[in-house]
Amino acid sequence: MCGIVAYIGSREAYPILIKGLERLEYRGYDSAGVALLQSEIKVFKKSGKVQELKDYASKYDTSGNIGIGHTRWATHGEPNEVNAHPHFSSDNKIALIHNGIIENYAVLKEELVKRGYEFHSETDTEVLVHLIEEVQKNTKLSLFDAVRVALNEVTGAYAIVVLSEDNPQQLIAARKGSPLVIGMGKDEFFVASDATPIIEYTNNVVYVDDEEVVLIDLKDGLSIKTIANQEKTPYVQELEMKLETLEKGGYEHFMLKEIYEQPRSIYDSMRGRIDSKRGDIYLGGMLEYKNILTQANRIIFTACGTSWHAALVAEYLFEDIARVPVEVEYASEFRYRNPVINQGDVVIAISQSGETADTLAAIELAKQKGATVLGVCNVVGSSIPRATHAGAYTHAGPEIGVASTKAFTAQVTVLTQMALWLGYTKGTINQAKLARYLVELEAIPSKVEEALKTDVEVEKMARIIADSENALYLGRGYNFPVALEGALKLKEISYIHAEGYPAAEMKHGPIALIDENMPVVVLATKNAQYEKMISNIQEVKARKGKVFAIVTKGDVAVKEMADRWIEIPDCPEELSPLISSIPLQLLSYHVALMRGCNVDQPRNLAKSVTVE
Ligand code: F6R
Repeated sequence: MCGIVAYIGSREAYPILIKGLERLEYRGYDSAGVALLQSEIKVFKKSGKVQELKDYASKYDTSGNIGIGHTRWATHGEPNEVNAHPHFSSDNKIALIHNGIIENYAVLKEELVKRGYEFHSETDTEVLVHLIEEVQKNTKLSLFDAVRVALNEVTGAYAIVVLSEDNPQQLIAARKGSPLVIGMGKDEFFVASDATPIIEYTNNVVYVDDEEVVLIDLKDGLSIKTIANQEKTPYVQELEMKLETLEKGGYEHFMLKEIYEQPRSIYDSMRGRIDSKRGDIYLGGMLEYKNILTQANRIIFTACGTSWHAALVAEYLFEDIARVPVEVEYASEFRYRNPVINQGDVVIAISQSGETADTLAAIELAKQKGATVLGVCNVVGSSIPRATHAGAYTHAGPEIGVASTKAFTAQVTVLTQMALWLGYTKGTINQAKLARYLVELEAIPSKVEEALKTDVEVEKMARIIADSENALYLGRGYNFPVALEGALKLKEISYIHAEGYPAAEMKHGPIALIDENMPVVVLATKNAQYEKMISNIQEVKARKGKVFAIVTKGDVAVKEMADRWIEIPDCPEELSPLISSIPLQLLSYHVALMRGCNVDQPRNLAKSVTVE
């Protein structure tokens, strides 16, 4: 997690760093800090949000054309000012920011302490800066080579930027396992954890690869070496991101904006891929692996959090449509439990950020065991698309609200297309059936638009739920993963304890929780299990639970039983998660607002989870 940003050029660095940190704040908001090169390095740090840092630094001279900035998600050490980055060498001449975890920091620290270094913070990061200092002292290497040599001693993950008073024309950056991108301006350079702080200055970027160290020199430009001292040629790519997508665009919160963007993001995630008239579907990434995919003995989906819920939807889709056995694995469990992966297995990793450490590790493990690994990711150029053999991007655009919304529906949209492609290619569905699905898929954006119109009703529902301390979400079939996702949305932004369950599982335990104080959100849309769902709702009502139902337009039976209900448009069951998840996103948004919670930056969370 943590966001890092740096600038070197002829502009004032401070405003660029602050704006960049605000863009990266989704990665962590426990503390923020900047270091600016003036006649000497000047540092400003504050615990809390970037705004606190801004307020504090406004009283001081923040001039300078070179600087580094950091927003922290605490791992080692409390989120206070001492632990905030940047961290410094003993003579305060080298400043360093870091995203990641240095796993052998305790051993390195012990050794450095023996050699007389004093540590001021509890962070793993401070070890890095003293290590660089020690290498430089012993070897008289240039700062760039000292950084490179020092990194050979380190195990763990890092993206770092180093600023030094003795090298006022340079910044040094390096990466292993944590993302880092360099923006290439005219006689100026930007460094950041992702492209969002860079996009308004330049479209030209270089993505730094693992174990690469980059020397950014105002006179000589960019040069890259691996930590093993091998020269690399920088590969400049053009960004496709649009600046407007990073602003709130009139909405009070990013989350609300992103919920409302879904008709567009779902459309974008199928644009150019499906043709309902011809009954055709095109997914470039799948084509190359056509034989492997059609002959796969099973597909293992791996992901975390919301993306894992999208994987559960995929389980239903792939088994239903493509008749292939599917398993769904939490990446964090999969990576550590020596899973059986045979030749002929395909692993599909799902991730919005493309940087989730557990998912990346699961991919590496699957590759080692010989599986073909595909990715479904949102952030172009992120680590997961680069680590997988092939895949398909979701085109949801940048998702900034920490609670995932449009990324989830974009993932489900892409996974639906993958399942259809596979089913059609394998012959488990014929062209006529494919064409019917595609027509329905094309109608989804306008149905989502319609589902968004329930907002006023959802808000009324939220008023009743907002004072609760617990909530249950129930669904069956395709609505089960949606129930899990609805519960996750509620707990992560409103801090209400919420659980999602397959409705039929209630009677095996959770039903004991139900009384007149327990709100039960039921997904009771028209599907194969509608009648069964009605029985489950009756079980809840019989125990005086309050039922808040999501129903299909025109429903009669559930409406009669529910305390409140929301009507959403009808669609084939296989596509229903794309619609039924919408009111649940709105519900969690309103409940969180009513409880005075920070919707876009919920406590303890970060958007991109680059630590284990
Ligand atoms: C919840 C949420 C998280 C992420 C999870 C995986 O709203 O956003 O649960 O889904 O951290 O992140 P990605 O998809 O970036 O791998």
